Amino acid sequence: MADIALAQAGHAQSGAIHSDHANPHWTRYPGDAALDHIPGDDGWPIVGTTLQELADPDAFTARMRAAHGPVYRVRSFGRRGVNLIGPEANELILFDRDRLFSNEQGWGPLLNLLFPRGLMLMDHDAHRIDRRALSIAFKPEPMKAYSDVLNRDIARGTQGWGAGADTFTFRIYDAIKTLTLQTAATSFLGLPLGPEADRLNRAFTAMVQAAVAPIRRPLPLTAMGRGVAGRRTLVTWFTALLAERRAQPGQDMFSQFAQATRDDGTLLPADVVVDHMIFLLMAAHDTITSSFTTLIWHLAQNQDWQDRLRAEGLAAAGGPGRSLPHGALAQMDQTELAFKEALRIMPPVPALPRRALRDFTFMGHRIPAGVNVGINPAAVHADPAYWPDPTRFDPLRFTPDNVAARHKYAWVPFGGGAHMCLGLHFATMQTKILTHHVLSRYRISAAPGYSPRWQAWPIPRPRDGLRLEMRRIC
Ligand code: HEM
Repeated sequence: MADIALAQAGHAQSGAIHSDHANPHWTRYPGDAALDHIPGDDGWPIVGTTLQELADPDAFTARMRAAHGPVYRVRSFGRRGVNLIGPEANELILFDRDRLFSNEQGWGPLLNLLFPRGLMLMDHDAHRIDRRALSIAFKPEPMKAYSDVLNRDIARGTQGWGAGADTFTFRIYDAIKTLTLQTAATSFLGLPLGPEADRLNRAFTAMVQAAVAPIRRPLPLTAMGRGVAGRRTLVTWFTALLAERRAQPGQDMFSQFAQATRDDGTLLPADVVVDHMIFLLMAAHDTITSSFTTLIWHLAQNQDWQDRLRAEGLAAAGGPGRSLPHGALAQMDQTELAFKEALRIMPPVPALPRRALRDFTFMGHRIPAGVNVGINPAAVHADPAYWPDPTRFDPLRFTPDNVAARHKYAWVPFGGGAHMCLGLHFATMQTKILTHHVLSRYRISAAPGYSPRWQAWPIPRPRDGLRLEMRRIC
């Protein structure tokens, strides 16, 4: 998938479509010849390796790695990039001890028309200052308030699945997506569920789709055109809501951001809060939907783990139909192991792009400044050198002893270093609450022989909505 990220980034940066000239401070691409010495493949004329990467990213990565090793060159829409595969590469790029890499210039070509100034697109000191300010929203007290809202909404949302039938076949991905959107409206924005949330969701969905649109200019009738229009809608709406939240804060995440201050005690400017919030919604929503769907799919196939997690949730909540007290979440360690395994098997962010700010050398290969480099968590998570029998669902891979015996950067679904996911505890909390409410109401199984096809890009999802057999048990 890093190949795809690079493909898209390369596409976005190619002179014909979305030029670096718009960003004069970006490090200049050194030209194709500067990468002649890196093993790899230029693919076909004009399109380079892009079509192969898009058609089957995992197979492409495996093929390139087998042919060229863990450091290889691709060519996407007229520009070469380099992929680095392995835990050492993950550590180099994510830990970034020497501040060699830019997030802004890695993600920017994909996202900067849609999510400008999102935390993930900031670099170094400016990033550190805003990250510290936003961290206020993830402290224990607000987290407890979100947990109460999530419990209430998820209990209500899951109750009516299947319109009261005792057994039914259900597109569970679609239901989870709807549910996580509704809960985002309440826990993130403090909005009652309703038509307003639907309108915002349409704008937001257009923005997410535009992130991987092949035409990078916001022309009429293109996905990017719709995405940029969606952004305008959200900016207008959030700016008005911010004034309300500053005057009268609630317990939602937006109210927390509205009160966030920088080191000198000044409030974050209104346009900055709005941009951070819009980015955060994007970062949070589809990732939780994707990873919880993966977890449910594996629980449907592994009834023993399903029973184990059901029992754990019921014990923590104190009985069927009851909410999980915030203080009981820490007891749900089996659920946490299973969630980690789901994130290993199908990481919602399968590839992470960066751009080199200075020349560097990795595994004997000199890579010049201005080149896009990508790492590929999905490939490392599937490498039998670190994960024996990698397609098997086995949450016990994450017991403390097993974790201690493995390279620290062999499992990086939340990234690492300065840009490590700010919402990882929120995601874990929401997953525990979802798991408890779903499993305490339903036994879930898959029809014999059923095997859904997954769309890998931009965020993994089952193409058919994941049709599972549900039996009501409470
Ligand atoms: C299973 C769910 C999630 C996964 C797998 C995930 C994954 C990631 C990854 C890989 C990054 C780092 C990207 C990079 O280094 O280029 C990231 C960053 C980020 N995530 Fe998440 N995320 C999840 C849920 C969330 C949630 C629920 C929130 C907010 C409530 C959130 C907010 C953020 C933010 C703000 C950043 C940028 C951090 C920074 O650059 O300092 N994420 N996420």
